[in-house]
Amino acid sequence: MTATTADGLPAAPAADTAPAAPATAAGLVVENVTVSFGGLSVLDNVSLTSSTGEIVGVIGPNGAGKTTLFNVICGFVRPQEGRVVWRGKQLRHHHPYDLASLGIERTLQGVGLFQGLDALDNVLVGAAPVARSGLFSALFGLWPSSREERRLRDQAMEALDRMGVAEYAARMPSTLPYPVQKRIALARALVSQPALVMMDEPASGLSASDISELAELLGALRSEMGVLIVEHNMDLVMATCDRIVVLDFGKVIATGVPDEIRADPVVTTAYLGEAVESEPADARD
Ligand SMILES: Nc1ncnc2c1ncn2[C@@H]1O[C@H](COP(=O)(O)OP(=O)(O)OP(=O)(O)O)[C@@H](O)[C@H]1O
Ligand SMILES: [Mg+2]
Repeated sequence: MTATTADGLPAAPAADTAPAAPATAAGLVVENVTVSFGGLSVLDNVSLTSSTGEIVGVIGPNGAGKTTLFNVICGFVRPQEGRVVWRGKQLRHHHPYDLASLGIERTLQGVGLFQGLDALDNVLVGAAPVARSGLFSALFGLWPSSREERRLRDQAMEALDRMGVAEYAARMPSTLPYPVQKRIALARALVSQPALVMMDEPASGLSASDISELAELLGALRSEMGVLIVEHNMDLVMATCDRIVVLDFGKVIATGVPDEIRADPVVTTAYLGEAVESEPADARD
């Protein structure tokens, strides 16, 4: 099928980053994305935007298509229709390993750490895109230079420290509690200071106090980068997100600010039920 724009026009010609039609202030624009797997419709004409200065939440029941949407943005899944525009250019034929150099980082549903690397090395994997050493050096085992390595290690330690887990730098992930592993995964995503971070269920498996620290972190990141989160924890979503996109069976059934989503009968009745009746954030103070 031919990819189309929001206006129903044919998408730009194939190129790794073809110019997008309309200029937009949003860093990320997902336009009319449609995905089906073996005839099963998983995303149906889904659009959203994300910019620095806002936290956008993507919510929806299990199987709604949230992770698939992230996979489309990351280049894991090619949409049958629609397109992904990043900083004014359409991403085509991109792959997950291109993302870091584009300034996009992602945490996976679960943890997704390399089990054979200690915490610091896991974060260094995320720091690699900002390394100055080149491919030649890497190929010949010269990467990174000791000075470069020190710089990267300092950055990685700072990222671990920001997440409050610097003391575990030398530990293997499997020896650490799940919430600590999740913080390490966040450190890996943030160490390169991306322009957009995408988090898939960052609160899952966390205690209330961990979630409250996560909310603080999200608030702090808002001014530094675009933040896109997929999350089931409605209290976190309602307290931190500036805008929310609700997916159900692959379709956007609602978009709006938390109060609009909370009050939307389509959302409350058709999808969230009681869960959306979480207390407004300001009522908990
Ligand atoms: N590679 C794939 N091949 C076939 N079906 C898939 C594939 N990936 C996802 N699906 C199906 O697509 C639908 C959406 O899955 P997805 O993982 O995006 O949902 P989700 O909203 O992230 O759910 P959850 O909240 O449980 O993580 C599901 O029905 C899933 O089984
Ligand atoms: Mg998912």
